Amino acid sequence: MDSLLIKGAVPLHGEVTIGGAKNAVLPIMAATLLTAEPCVIRRVPHLSDVRFMGQILTWLGSDVRFEGDTIRTQARKIKGAGDYDLIRKMRGSVCVMGPLLGRLKKASVSLPGGCVIGARPINLHLKGFQALGARVTIEAGYVHASAKRLVGSAIFLGGRAGSTVLGTANVMMAAALAEGVTVIESAACEPEVVDLADFLNAMGAQISGAGSPTVTITGVKQLHGAEHEVIPDRIEAATYAIAAAATHGEVTLRGARAEHMRAVLDKLKDAGVGIERRGADIVIRRARRLKPVDITTLPYSGFPTDVQAQVMALMALTPGISIITERIFESRFMHVSELTRLGADIEIEGPSAIVKGGKPLSGAPVMASDLRASAALVIAGLAARGTTQVNRVYHIDRGYENIDGKLRQLGARIERIEEP
Ligand code: EPZ
Repeated sequence: MDSLLIKGAVPLHGEVTIGGAKNAVLPIMAATLLTAEPCVIRRVPHLSDVRFMGQILTWLGSDVRFEGDTIRTQARKIKGAGDYDLIRKMRGSVCVMGPLLGRLKKASVSLPGGCVIGARPINLHLKGFQALGARVTIEAGYVHASAKRLVGSAIFLGGRAGSTVLGTANVMMAAALAEGVTVIESAACEPEVVDLADFLNAMGAQISGAGSPTVTITGVKQLHGAEHEVIPDRIEAATYAIAAAATHGEVTLRGARAEHMRAVLDKLKDAGVGIERRGADIVIRRARRLKPVDITTLPYSGFPTDVQAQVMALMALTPGISIITERIFESRFMHVSELTRLGADIEIEGPSAIVKGGKPLSGAPVMASDLRASAALVIAGLAARGTTQVNRVYHIDRGYENIDGKLRQLGARIERIEEP
């Protein structure tokens, strides 16, 4: 398993181009199953999760071709069941259920397991399918949904932690080919949901209200092929912004969308970081002196849970006490023990982490556990004195394209150690 070797305490300088959003491209790839016509998706990041979704679509019968940062697909005929092993390995693949149900009126996928950040149930997805008229059963580790007809309905998707991003995506995709009108109340408002709705409308769907808690989908008989350019990845952009702040550098984020990052940029400003918008770019400037901030993760447009670990690494470097509360997932503090190994002083109190920041961090070998926790360890390693080795980097390759190459371009002393 590869690891990253980082020699820290080097300010990052220069510019980094932000790629397409992983969490937009995965459901958009799934949506191509809704038509037998060719689709083209542009600004696709080179990530293992994206390649994996390509394998799943291929397994389901779609013709998938990767050409640089473009994917061409054509799902002439597709199977209604996903391969147990393939789908079990990446829970984001649960979003093939909606299109399979929409197009074939049947879908069988392996129940996505939990992961290190939480149980990751899909009860709200299934509630949405049932509301559309599907019969849902669970057996032998598979979840099956089937319907003679899908009929539009009113569906409330609010759950224990607000709405569900992929649940909203799944129900939107199934409802696009249902008969009549579906109204989703308490829909997820994330930009990635809006991007999916834009792609579906380009395919001929009739969806309005995406980005608000009430989304209306008027079913149509058929959808046609479409081309689409994916939105930039607001989480990747936030990660590089925090890395720039953590190393007291100055970095320009090329192609980031500030309007998708308001909560993060607002908190970085409160922490004393210089933020300047320059057209489609955002310049992140070293802070004279970092200040502690309190953060609670919330559904969009609140502070994103996918940036919680990264900002905790920044607060570990910041003199003073910060309280970081995780309200979306039940166990998303796997990075705390590893940050502690680098010298951070963090105590967990229920859903909150109390960060007593300001002591300089010193490098050490650390273990990545999930995608965003790994990014936090890289940020801490970039700021720490000495050398940090981040092991199990496959976690990071799931969601960050060429992170070591992009950081080297910014002046970081980082190299990838490929282990057989
Ligand atoms: C998406 O996951 C993202 N993944 C996650 O990003 C992100 O953290 C999450 O949304 C929240 O923003 C992709 O888009 C591929 P949810 P998703 O359903 O849709 C509970 C990353 O690092 N819930 O919005 O699976 C759930 O347990 C990944 O890029 C139910 O209770 O998340 C959680 O507490 C990690 N029942 C909360 O809702 C359900 O049926 C939010 O989950 C579904 C969810």
